[in-house]
Amino acid sequence: MDKRLLAFLEKQYRKYAILSPITVIGEVIIEVYLPFLMAKIVDVGIPNMDMAYIRRMGILMIVLAVIALLLGVLSGVFAAIASTGLSKGIRKALFSKIQDFSFANIDKFSTASLITRTTTDVNNIQLSFMMIIRILMRAPVMLICSAVMAYRINPSLSRVFLIIIPLLAIAMGLIGYATFRKFKEMLTHYDSMNKSVQENLIGIRVVKSFVRKAYENNKFLLALTNVRTTQMQAEGRSFFIFPVLMFFTYASVISIAWFGGRQIMVGTMHAGQFFSFISYSSQILMSMMMIAMIFVSIILSRASAVRVMEVLDEEIDIKDNPDSTVQLEDGSIEFKDVDFSYAKSMDSLVLTNINLSIKSGETVGIIGGTGSAKSTLVQLIPRLYDTTSGTILVGGHDVKDYALRTLRDGVSMVLQNNVLFSGSIEENLKWGNPDATHEEVVAACKSACADDFINSFPEGYNTDLGQGGVNVSGGQKQRLCIARALIKNPKILILDDSTSAVDTATDKKIREAFSKYHAETTKIIIAQRVSSVIEADKIIVMDDGKINAIGTHDELLADNKIYQEVYYSQRGVA
Ligand SMILES: Nc1ncnc2c1ncn2[C@@H]1O[C@H](COP(=O)(O)OP(=O)(O)OP(=O)(O)O)[C@@H](O)[C@H]1O
Ligand SMILES: [Mg+2]
Repeated sequence: MDKRLLAFLEKQYRKYAILSPITVIGEVIIEVYLPFLMAKIVDVGIPNMDMAYIRRMGILMIVLAVIALLLGVLSGVFAAIASTGLSKGIRKALFSKIQDFSFANIDKFSTASLITRTTTDVNNIQLSFMMIIRILMRAPVMLICSAVMAYRINPSLSRVFLIIIPLLAIAMGLIGYATFRKFKEMLTHYDSMNKSVQENLIGIRVVKSFVRKAYENNKFLLALTNVRTTQMQAEGRSFFIFPVLMFFTYASVISIAWFGGRQIMVGTMHAGQFFSFISYSSQILMSMMMIAMIFVSIILSRASAVRVMEVLDEEIDIKDNPDSTVQLEDGSIEFKDVDFSYAKSMDSLVLTNINLSIKSGETVGIIGGTGSAKSTLVQLIPRLYDTTSGTILVGGHDVKDYALRTLRDGVSMVLQNNVLFSGSIEENLKWGNPDATHEEVVAACKSACADDFINSFPEGYNTDLGQGGVNVSGGQKQRLCIARALIKNPKILILDDSTSAVDTATDKKIREAFSKYHAETTKIIIAQRVSSVIEADKIIVMDDGKINAIGTHDELLADNKIYQEVYYSQRGVA
């Protein structure tokens, strides 16, 4: 396990991580001492028929056993507090790191994997940490104390362990290694099972509408079978631990009986010593088994620790400038020789040589085939991604000079596949500006043509949207997303295909509201329909990551082939 993870053990839980092993040591010392008292009873109390002595020793043994029990329970409780505290700290760090992730960082890990890492992997670490603080101390302390006690009772007989312990260590090592390999295999199958569950739950509606249930069930069944087979094989291997341990236990009992029996016969050893020697030998072997088990568990959680650290170590590629005082003064935008690649390599450019100038308050339309990099172009403006080369100025300053908060408050973007969150309509709309008054919310909804349908719901603005906003239609969702963007009162408003599910008449009304109530705001409208951009001050025609032409509707219709093609193909509906 990565030591750096321990740094996430919050202060208030740290003492428990220390108290737990300490109580364990107390428990072990008592456990080791008990056979010694037993030997006293057999060797001193019984031959002398000293009932008072036997009673005294018996009571002492009971008291010590109860104390050991309490210490054992305490150490368990402390270990649970410490390990759950650790997982809480790690999850907190992961979540806050992911919040800082840029889109590029998220693309790299994928959402599903980030979920598994914050849940399952942290669980593995928690379990293994608990084992470590409970058993890692217990086993070696028990091993050493029992060995010392055994040696004190009979040094010559203890030589039996010199042979048994190395042999047992080798056997445990082999079993542990074989089990670990299978467990590792199981974890990869576990990953694909998780992926299947996540994908299906996120996309359950698609799965149903494509009637893919049988196919998806089979896929899941395969992943399940793989997990089951490898888990069974792994556990099958680990089952050897117990019989092997038993074998060595009996081997040592027989050897001790053989050599110890002779010593009793010649009178160099007492019967009580003989029995406690046997107890110590089983304690020694038990602790060997625990060491083997903990070894396997540490290696198992290592895979999870690596996955968690990958997220925590990830370099955030969009660096914020939180202390910058640069203010967004107007909504002008300028692209200077901008190239962009998602892979950050100049060989796979998605945008090439973009030069563009937009004045504050202008309405700009963007038209272009699917995959022509329209979304990519506008995502650079609020710095959802950074340019690979070239600069973008917003309000006259390089976007990198702003604090991200200032920039993103000023640039409101309705993403192409936008989401709403569970909660009421009003709560969702106030995401953009928590201080907005109800009147401002209503005004934004009127501009976005959402007020009417919101009022048609029995609970109006308090209607609960359900997870991911499932309670509204596609077009209604788009209008809510536009309203949410408007509430920020942005200098720049970017709509990425945000009215595709809205009928043309409503679409027109929304645009009219924009020019009436948001005249100062620079508006960038990406659209598939020419009718959505026809009145724009300028229209950008994108083709394969390049600007093909910029002009007004009339200019482009006169001499741009791509625009003419799109326009005439839509004229029937436009
Ligand atoms: N997150 C991403 N990682 C890697 N490549 C991407 C990513 N998003 C988009 N691309 C690629 O970049 C290119 C441009 O995509 P973009 O989404 O900008 O196109 P678009 O013009 O908005 O298309 P559409 O009209 O379908 O929305 C596409 O070839 C796409 O495969
Ligand atoms: Mg797009």
